[in-house]
Parts: sequence; structure tokens; C-alpha cells
Amino acid sequence: MPKVRTIYLCTECGGETHRWEGQCPHCKEWNTLVEERVRPAPPAQRVGAERGAESRAVSLADVEGVERPRWQIGLAELDFILGGGVVPGSLVLLGGEPGIGKSTLLLQVSARMAAAGHRVLYVSGEESAYQVKLRAQRVPEPCDDVLMLAETSAEVVIDRVEALEPNVLVIDSIQTLYTERLDSAPGSVSQVREVAAALQRVAKRRDMVAFLVGHVTKEGGIAGPKTLEHIVDVVLYFESPTGLDHRIVRGTKNRFGAADEIALFRMGAAGLEPVDNPSALFLQGRQERASGSAVVAALEGTRPVLVEVQALVNKSVYGSPQRVSTGFDSRRLALLLAVLERRARLRTSDLDVFLNVVGGLRLSEPAADLAVVAAVASAIRDVVLDAEAVFVGEVGLGGEVRPVRQLDRRLSEAGRLGFRRAYLAATTEISGKSVPVALQKVSDVRRLIDVLFG
Ligand code: TYD
Ligand code: MG
Repeated sequence: MPKVRTIYLCTECGGETHRWEGQCPHCKEWNTLVEERVRPAPPAQRVGAERGAESRAVSLADVEGVERPRWQIGLAELDFILGGGVVPGSLVLLGGEPGIGKSTLLLQVSARMAAAGHRVLYVSGEESAYQVKLRAQRVPEPCDDVLMLAETSAEVVIDRVEALEPNVLVIDSIQTLYTERLDSAPGSVSQVREVAAALQRVAKRRDMVAFLVGHVTKEGGIAGPKTLEHIVDVVLYFESPTGLDHRIVRGTKNRFGAADEIALFRMGAAGLEPVDNPSALFLQGRQERASGSAVVAALEGTRPVLVEVQALVNKSVYGSPQRVSTGFDSRRLALLLAVLERRARLRTSDLDVFLNVVGGLRLSEPAADLAVVAAVASAIRDVVLDAEAVFVGEVGLGGEVRPVRQLDRRLSEAGRLGFRRAYLAATTEISGKSVPVALQKVSDVRRLIDVLFG
């Protein structure tokens, strides 16, 4: 029998060390290393492995190039971020904080896939069948055809899968399942990984889709979803951008399509409903008569969204001015402030600057620069910007405004929402076709200030 080893695994990133340290050397998180005792199992004895199966190498010439089929869930938003549906034989991880709506979403997914003729097994390790039934009564989809199993033993779950032969398996949550093969506690890094790997083998072999719920927690040595990201095929994160009832599902990994797409939902009294118009959501409540507000035509994945950027400035009372930024990189903000001061002669170095991206989105693409610059300049001058204008452009250290990718998508979204003007780089080339908004080209930030404030 292989020897039991003691190792330390990080519950945040899954990284391994051989002695305890306060900080994980891999992801630099503090107090995330926990002691685990592992006894490696011989491959043939791993849970979920098919007995007697042997693998065979084939020449690439003999590999058939068949397009993988996809099963649509029937929730258009979710099918979209998955790249058109789920691929049989794959593992989809849904991460998120407790209470955000993971069980609700996957119950709705289960009901829809059952209605489409799939056999769906919903395994709950956290709640009783009755608790799941109470939730089922709230969501709009009829859940009667979903098979329900309250179980925490991975061996039993896999046994039931072999017997019931579902096409779709939901595990809620992966942290509650444990295998007897390991000595470590349920929810530990080695348990969570071993069980996920076992489920992957079963899913591949049976051509079954498995959805795994992964809680994001910071306590009790419970392994987070990040420790599983490399095992699964698709990673989705559930976020609550506003802290209210809006939910974003964000794809961060997709072996069968583009990552970085988002889907928006609203948690209502009857489950999650898709939000068809993300831009309208991020612009709602905008104060068009206030200075310091500019709208950026941003891209989330391949999808254009219009988002309001707000800036507030104040004379700094301390020696070093404060720069506080939410939803936008604060170093990038510092850079843009320096550019404004040097290239547009707009004094920023004695001002406290606060920047906020409304609606809880994070703007990480450089295309947001121009809107940030416009918002800050508007706040400094205390002049309201044109409420019907959007801004899109990267700003360089020389103050120059640079063109951005996928401009036509951004502009058509702006036009669709009733905007009439777009400020963008002078070097922008528009590919013919009708442009839904008037173009105001600016070569650099100085020119932008002139055009905006005369
Ligand atoms: P849940 O799906 O249990 O979250 P998770 O599995 O991520 O922990 O949802 C939790 C919250 O959602 C809970 O506070 C109740 C609320 N909720 C609604 O507002 N409407 C509904 O229709 C349902 C089913 C839940
Ligand atoms: Mg849950």
C-alpha cells in the first residue's frame, strides 16, 4: 500500500508546499495553506475509472474531425456564454459566493434540460430533497422530471450515475462530496480534486454533461473553485455586481468557445430571469445634469455594453492627494491624470480624485481611457458633458488618442440606446456602412478638452 504523505495545499489556488507557511508561495494569499494527508491510489483503483479500459494512440490522420454536438439549455443568455450550449462529456464549474443563486440557476437549467428530453440527475450534498423541492416550487420551470438525490459519498453518486444513466448531472456542491479513498476531510483540496477528476472520467466515458457548484468561501480550509479550474472544461463565475438583485454570470474559461463573455440575470421572487438589455441596466439612474459623468462604449467579451463612469474631484487637504478608483485600475487612473496634467495643462496633482464605474462592472480594456479622461476633466471644470455622447478610445502617454477594436459593434449599441455622438480617435477608420451616431474625432487629450469645453 502506498505511503501516506503529509503535504500542505492552498485552498485558494490549490498550490502545494511541503511545509506550512503563512503565505501561499504560488498565489500569495495569506493563511490559506492547510495540512492534508494523501495516499496516492494506483490508477486502476481511482474512483470512476473504467475497469480494464486501455488507451491507444492513433495517428492524427485517423482522427475524425467531427464537430462536437451541443445541447442547448434553453436559457439564451447561458447558451451564449457557453458558446452555443453545453458539450456532452464536459465538466462545467459554476463558482460563486453562498446565497448568490447557484442552486437556483442549476435547478432551472436542470428543468429546462429535462424538458428537452435529457435525463437529469440533481445531486445535493447540502440540502435535503425537500429543501430542493421548495426551491423547485418557486422557479417558473416545471421540475417534475428532474431526478433528485441527496448524497455526499462520491462512490454512491457514481454508482447511481452508472445505474440511472443520466445525460446531465448536477453536483451541488463539489465541496460536500467526498471519496473514502482519501483520509482528508470533505471540502479539502485533495478531496475536491479527486472527486472532480473522478466525475470527469465518468462524464467523458458516458458522454454526460456535469455541472459542478463550487462555493467561494474564505473559511474553514474549504477548497475554493480556483483549485478546480484546470480540471474542468468550462468555468463560470456568478457575481452580484450591485449587491442588489442583479447577477452576472461570467465565463472565465471555455475549452469549446470564447471565454470572457457575460450573461445578466435578475433574481426575482420566481427564480432567475435573463436581462436582455445590459446597457440599459448599467445606465439606469444616470444623472445627465451632473458634471463628472461620461459614458463609455465598452466590450464585455464580444458584447458591447454602455457604462457610466463617474469622477469626483476635490482640493486635496493632505500633502499627497488621494486617488480612489472602483471598477478601474488605479494605476491606470494615475497615469491618465499625469497625462491630463502634462499634455492638456489640466492641473490634477493637487486634487483628490475619485472614480467609480457604475453598476459594479470592471472596465479593464484601454478603450475606457477616453471616458475616464472626459469624466475627470468634466469634474475639474465642473461642466456637464453632452448627455447624448459616448467616449471610446485608448489614451497614450503622449496624450494621443488611439483607435479601439470592434468599433462598429460599440457604435451600433450606442445608436440603439439613443446616443447621437461618439468621441473617438482621429485615426479611426470606419468601414463604410451607415454609422448610427455622429463621429467627433479627437487626435489627443488637449484637443478633447478644447472640443468639450471650448
Ligand atoms: P441559492 O440558489 O440557494 O444560492 P446558492 O446556491 O448560490 O447558495 O439562492 C439563494 C437566495 O436566492 C436566497 O436568499 C433566496 C433567493 N431566491 C430568490 O430570491 N428567488 C427565488 O426564486 C429563489 C429560488 C431564491
Ligand atoms: Mg446552493
